[in-house]
Amino acid sequence: MELKGRKMVSLNEFTTNEIEEIVDAALEISTDITGYGKLLQGYIMGALFYEASTRTRLSFESAMLRLGGKVVGFADASTSSSKKGESLADTIRVMDDYCDIIVLRHPKEGSAKLAGQFSTVPIINAGDGGHKHPTQTLTDLVTLKKEFARISNLKIALCGDLRFGRTVHSMLETLSRWKGNSFVLISPEKLRIPEWLRSNLEEMDIDFTEITDLETGIERADVLYMTRIQKERFFSEKEYLKLKNAYILDVKRLKNSPSEMIVMHPLPRVNEIDYDVDNDDRSRYFQQAANGVPARMALLALLLGRWRQ
Ligand code: CP
Repeated sequence: MELKGRKMVSLNEFTTNEIEEIVDAALEISTDITGYGKLLQGYIMGALFYEASTRTRLSFESAMLRLGGKVVGFADASTSSSKKGESLADTIRVMDDYCDIIVLRHPKEGSAKLAGQFSTVPIINAGDGGHKHPTQTLTDLVTLKKEFARISNLKIALCGDLRFGRTVHSMLETLSRWKGNSFVLISPEKLRIPEWLRSNLEEMDIDFTEITDLETGIERADVLYMTRIQKERFFSEKEYLKLKNAYILDVKRLKNSPSEMIVMHPLPRVNEIDYDVDNDDRSRYFQQAANGVPARMALLALLLGRWRQ
C-alpha cells in the first residue's frame, strides 16, 4: 500500500518496509536539510497541540517550513474553542477543510484514533496521553540507523517510567518487529510496562527482562534509553515524589558501562541525566532531538505523496 493519504495513529499500521522507507528518506533528507524547500509548496499543516510540547511541535513546524509548506494551529488549547466546550471531533471536522494534514497532540489516550475517524486528510498522532508517540519512534529509529547502520540485532536498555512513558511504548512495540533486538526494562516495580504491552511482547516471543537496577541493566547494552518520570500522569503528588529520583544517570554510573554504548532520551529531561553526562562521548539525546526534523520532513512528504513522485 502506498503511504500517500495514510494516517499515523500508531506504527503498528505500517509494515517494517514502510517504516524503513520513512527512516531512509529521513536519512537522505538529513544530508541536505535545506534542499527540499519546494516539495510541499502550497500545502498547509494543522498543528493542534492540546498538551505542552517543545520538540514535537516545533520540529513538525520546522519540518513543514523547510519543505516550503505553511502551518496553522495552536500551541495552547485554552486559546481554541475547546475552551468553550467544542469537542475534538468537531474541531477535526473543521480543520479538515483548513489544511492538508493534521498533527495532533492530546492528553487523552485514543484521541488520535478518534480524530482519524472524523478526518479525510492524514492525521498524525503526536502523542496521545500515556499511550503512544509514533513520530518520536521514527526519530529514534533515524538516530539508531545513523549510529549503528541498522535497527536490528541491538541490545536496548530502557530506564525510568515505563508505565506512563508513551515514547517507550511505541519504541518497544516497533523495535520488537526487527530481528535480533532484545530489551532490558529497568524501572521501579510501580512503573513497569503496562499489561497490554507485556502481553504483546510475550505473544511475539520477544527477548525482554524486567529489572530494577540500572548498573546491571546496562552491562551489555548497545543503547541506554533514559526516560523522565511522567509527573503529569500520576494520580497523586505523593506517589510521584516517592519515585521521581528513582534513577539518575551520572558520570560515575556511566563509568563501567560499555564504551560503545550510546545514551538516548526523548527529552525533556528533569533530573534523570546529570548535566555532566552531556560531555560524555556516548550522549546522543541532542542529536536525537535534531533528527526529529528530517524524520518529520520525510513523514510529511510521504503522507502527502510528494516524495519521489
Ligand atoms: N520528546 C517529546 O515528545 O518532546 P516534547 O514533549 O517537547 O514534544
